[in-house]
Amino acid sequence: MNIASTKTAPSGPTGAQTANITVVGGAGHVGIPLVLAFAEAGLTVNINDLNETALATMRAGKLPFIEHGAAPLLARALAGNKLLFTSSPGAIGHTGPVVITIGTPVDEFLNPVQKEIQHCIDSLLPHIADDQLLILRSTVYPGTTNWLHDYLKRLGRKNGVAFCPERVVQGYGIKELREMPQIVSATSADAENEASEIFRRIAPDLVVVKPIEAEFAKLFNNAYRYIEFAASNQFYMIAKSAGADYQAIMRAMKQNYPRATSFPGPGFSAGPCLFKDTMQLAAFARNQFGLGHAAMQVNEGLVLQLVDDLRRGYEISTMTVGLLGMAFKAEVDDTRASLSYKLKHALEICARKVLTTDPFVTTDPNILSLDHVVAHSDILILCTPHSVYAEADLKGKPVVDVWGFLKNANVVY
Ligand SMILES: NC(=O)c1ccc[n+]([C@@H]2O[C@H](COP(=O)([O-])OP(=O)(O)OC[C@H]3O[C@@H](n4cnc5c(N)ncnc54)[C@H](O)[C@@H]3O)[C@@H](O)[C@H]2O)c1
Repeated sequence: MNIASTKTAPSGPTGAQTANITVVGGAGHVGIPLVLAFAEAGLTVNINDLNETALATMRAGKLPFIEHGAAPLLARALAGNKLLFTSSPGAIGHTGPVVITIGTPVDEFLNPVQKEIQHCIDSLLPHIADDQLLILRSTVYPGTTNWLHDYLKRLGRKNGVAFCPERVVQGYGIKELREMPQIVSATSADAENEASEIFRRIAPDLVVVKPIEAEFAKLFNNAYRYIEFAASNQFYMIAKSAGADYQAIMRAMKQNYPRATSFPGPGFSAGPCLFKDTMQLAAFARNQFGLGHAAMQVNEGLVLQLVDDLRRGYEISTMTVGLLGMAFKAEVDDTRASLSYKLKHALEICARKVLTTDPFVTTDPNILSLDHVVAHSDILILCTPHSVYAEADLKGKPVVDVWGFLKNANVVY
């Protein structure tokens, strides 16, 4: 069953059965931009997610987290009756492809948790028809798409299988989905055609490859980015140890020098994807991914180096340290795998007190106002370069700014 045949379904959502397409994990960070892009393209989308709170939030016209540019699209989709909200596999219905955007974490050994995908598939299968295409969109361990194809075959199921990875940068999915090519791969020609037809509706261009190529392309994209950040962070630490100004060095490296234009600045390289995907690749490479592990040592080590340097330079045990920004990156409210928390935990062992602030984070009860943190801290550390901090009045307090972001502040490191 392809998406074209589902266009004959009743137009108004009278139940999950009328959906043109289902997004499992549709109330998550990858799911929401995708759901809204499909709705904008005229499809009725079943948002299937275990998180009923997030579903209720969306149903009320709000977003469960910051996604830039999503609010008007959500309003339009709701007004046009384009969204269905379901929280159990039994409510998926027998119409349209099923896209899977659930989390794919690594475990305590930094190995992928393959069972997450299998459990999800097992829960869906009794409730979907054999002619519904399954599209994996989560980032997966290499070989997962072919594994799923074989797994379904062993169960006597005939569903087509595709892998069409998400590559947007978190918080800006709405914009990037419209602008970036979509990688499409599948385990049969029919599945490839159907997946291509679906993504042609929302993406400006398609890149069609084999599943293993698509799986590596996604992981290589993320691991490469993580390594790029590590290169800059390591250069920063080398420059720092020589007492040199890294921002001045970067200016010299980049100004009118085309081969260095994409070179990133230093900073906390964190979040739910780059580290995790680099470790998935390392697991696949039997831990022989030297560059990936080195990147992890540098990016995670930067934070600990910072604490070490502060302990050498200050009587930190007598000081209150204020952390500015607890989200894992600028202008979002997501704290997953944020290095601000790694820094906080390391400082709690050696500082008198640690105070935290963030203009966006709503999930951490310990967050204080910026004014309070500035007033009560002896030293501040810029963890996340939210734009509101650029010219904030930090009352002349000493500030650590790895990013080189602050203007008119008393930067001491
Ligand atoms: N966050 C990003 O910017 C980004 C970008 C590209 C790729 N990815 C990848 O996409 C995947 C999802 O990441 P995310 O950040 O959107 O995660 P997320 O936690 O924000 O979203 C996952 C959603 O899936 C739901 N869910 C989990 N199991 C379910 C099930 N069995 N049935 C229905 N719903 C279920 C959760 O409730 C949640 O809402 C991961 O593989 C990630 O690596 C993320």
